Amino acid sequence: MSGKTYSRIIQKNEQDANRTAANVMTISFVIFTFIYILNLTGIFIIDAVPMAIAYCISGVLLMLPRLLNKVIGTASRKLKYIYVSFAALFLLMIISVLTYHVVVIYAYPIAIAGLYFSKRLTRFSTVLTVLVTVGGQLIGFFLDRPDNNFKTMDNLLLYGIFPRLLTLLSFAAILELMTTRTSRLLKEDAENYEQQVLYSQDMIYGFATLVENRDENTGGHIKRTSIYSRLLASKLKEKGIYSDIITDEFIECLAMVAPLHDIGKISIPDSVLCKPGKLTDEEFDIMKSHSAKGGEIIKSTFSHVADNDYRTMAYEVARYHHEKWNGRGYPEGISGEDIPLAARIMTVADVFDAVSEKRCYRDAMPLEKCFQIISEGIGRDFDPVIAETFLELREEITQIREK
Ligand SMILES: [Fe+2]
Repeated sequence: MSGKTYSRIIQKNEQDANRTAANVMTISFVIFTFIYILNLTGIFIIDAVPMAIAYCISGVLLMLPRLLNKVIGTASRKLKYIYVSFAALFLLMIISVLTYHVVVIYAYPIAIAGLYFSKRLTRFSTVLTVLVTVGGQLIGFFLDRPDNNFKTMDNLLLYGIFPRLLTLLSFAAILELMTTRTSRLLKEDAENYEQQVLYSQDMIYGFATLVENRDENTGGHIKRTSIYSRLLASKLKEKGIYSDIITDEFIECLAMVAPLHDIGKISIPDSVLCKPGKLTDEEFDIMKSHSAKGGEIIKSTFSHVADNDYRTMAYEVARYHHEKWNGRGYPEGISGEDIPLAARIMTVADVFDAVSEKRCYRDAMPLEKCFQIISEGIGRDFDPVIAETFLELREEITQIREK
């Protein structure tokens, strides 16, 4: 049940972790700069040439993540492997070039991997760090610098490589346990969150169905408009239309708030809402007030909902779903892209389903006629790209109706 939410949490964490990893590596470079200056002043006694080489290579490896985040963004799932590899190369360079280094530096790639709560990355960083540790020590040994601590291979293996491997494997074991625990907590969080969403959704459907039932609807309208809205928004995303607004979160949110679009009908008297014949002008004005009243109901009912996107979209869908592209709708008579996108999508789904359903004042229209109404409303009642995309979904929508 929690797979989708869990992977969304993980993905969001990875994006944050990509930024944090870049910051940590930048800070490491600042510290290395400080050490380099201390070496230049003679407080530290590392050979000038290897130190200069190490400093320059560090600059590249430790600052590249910041640059990559800026150039390609933080969304790529591969970046974490690249950044851990940079950290491992940094470690390799320190071990092989600088004879004097603190043992804690061996935990560096593992620590960077720890930001991501990924078991696979943790194991990747451990294997990489083991290889780098052994390789770096051997390179340092064969470079045979005068200040080399290990003059024989036996010494190197016993006093150089072995204790370092023990140190880094200890770090790796701690990180493995931390990652396992954090993953479990995140999974539990995701499950709780999804359970809450299901409860809320049931309540919204129940509440909306109560309102819809008053004018002889069975609740099918609520479910279908929600399905159409999701389908339509997904198709728009697939086609790259309004790509700056339509994200997976937008689509989920729209499907959640769609059932509330006619919530304002609760304030319309039965004599108007259930009138079998044509409404008088005065009655029609009362009927039209449901969208503005729906907006007010959402505003007052959802004032404590923490999710601002959800609250805003619920309000927009309830208030603006009868606005028209040409500005001749209600309650405000706004036009074009001034009408919130969620409401423009909702309008198409709502009109299509409303005309395809029997109402107390008229019979249901055949599907062909319903699609024709959408087609005729392109650029007049509906956002052209949204209505055209809806018509492309003819086959799927027909199947949904038949079910
Ligand atoms: Fe409505």
